[in-house]
Amino acid sequence: MTILKATHLTKRFKRGDKSFEAVSNVSLDVKKGEVVSIIGRSGCGKTTLLNLLAGLINPDSGQVELDQMAIHSMPDDELTTIRNRKIGFVPQGKSLLGSLSVLDNVRLPLFLAKNGQDSRQRALDLLRALGIGELADSQPASLSGGELRRAALARALIASPLLVIADEPTSEMDGGSAESFLNLVKLFNDQGMTFIMATHDMKAAEISGRVLKMDLGVLE
Ligand SMILES: Nc1ncnc2c1ncn2[C@@H]1O[C@H](COP(=O)(O)OP(=O)(O)O)[C@@H](O)[C@H]1O
Ligand SMILES: [Mg+2]
Repeated sequence: MTILKATHLTKRFKRGDKSFEAVSNVSLDVKKGEVVSIIGRSGCGKTTLLNLLAGLINPDSGQVELDQMAIHSMPDDELTTIRNRKIGFVPQGKSLLGSLSVLDNVRLPLFLAKNGQDSRQRALDLLRALGIGELADSQPASLSGGELRRAALARALIASPLLVIADEPTSEMDGGSAESFLNLVKLFNDQGMTFIMATHDMKAAEISGRVLKMDLGVLE
């Protein structure tokens, strides 16, 4: 069953007075239960593509269907609801809210879905599985880059989304952290969760059923 279907996606950006295609005519079909990695050098368009697939930015042309719903043409409020319910997103870089503890950051998606009652234990379990259980009550500002990425993964997983989209999730992680991260991906994938990752990490590519290469906005 297809969970995510992108058809002829193109996104242009301006550089100086010229425009270029950061994502150029990309089509992609991801089935339930797949782990798909997108690799390619910095600047080739991976982040732009993931943002398009998650409905965070709009394409100049092309379509994105998530769980058979056309999200590229959806009104913002409707899209936000669908995205919260169906996608766990791990952005590139720092993404935790500085005003909340690590634990509350991880619980946030369930809180927003008004389903926060049992979230404390589940959040703690996820943080422990990622080797950062002892940081639950810390403030994000005191965490290292790798610890922040792991907390962001816990936040992406907590509402059991249909699809997790992760942008270079193991960057800034040491070998052990990356391993606990990838083990958790495997565990959730065994239960049927679908993953799309942009990565430079060969270990991440190894656990993927499919590795796609991107170059100058084009997906091979
Ligand atoms: N908002 C933006 N405005 C203009 N150019 C952008 C913007 N976002 C990304 N780019 C450019 O688009 C290209 C692809 O960027 P990106 O998708 O971040 O690549 P990657 O994630 O593979 O490093 C790069 O040349 C980048 O500089
Ligand atoms: Mg990127």
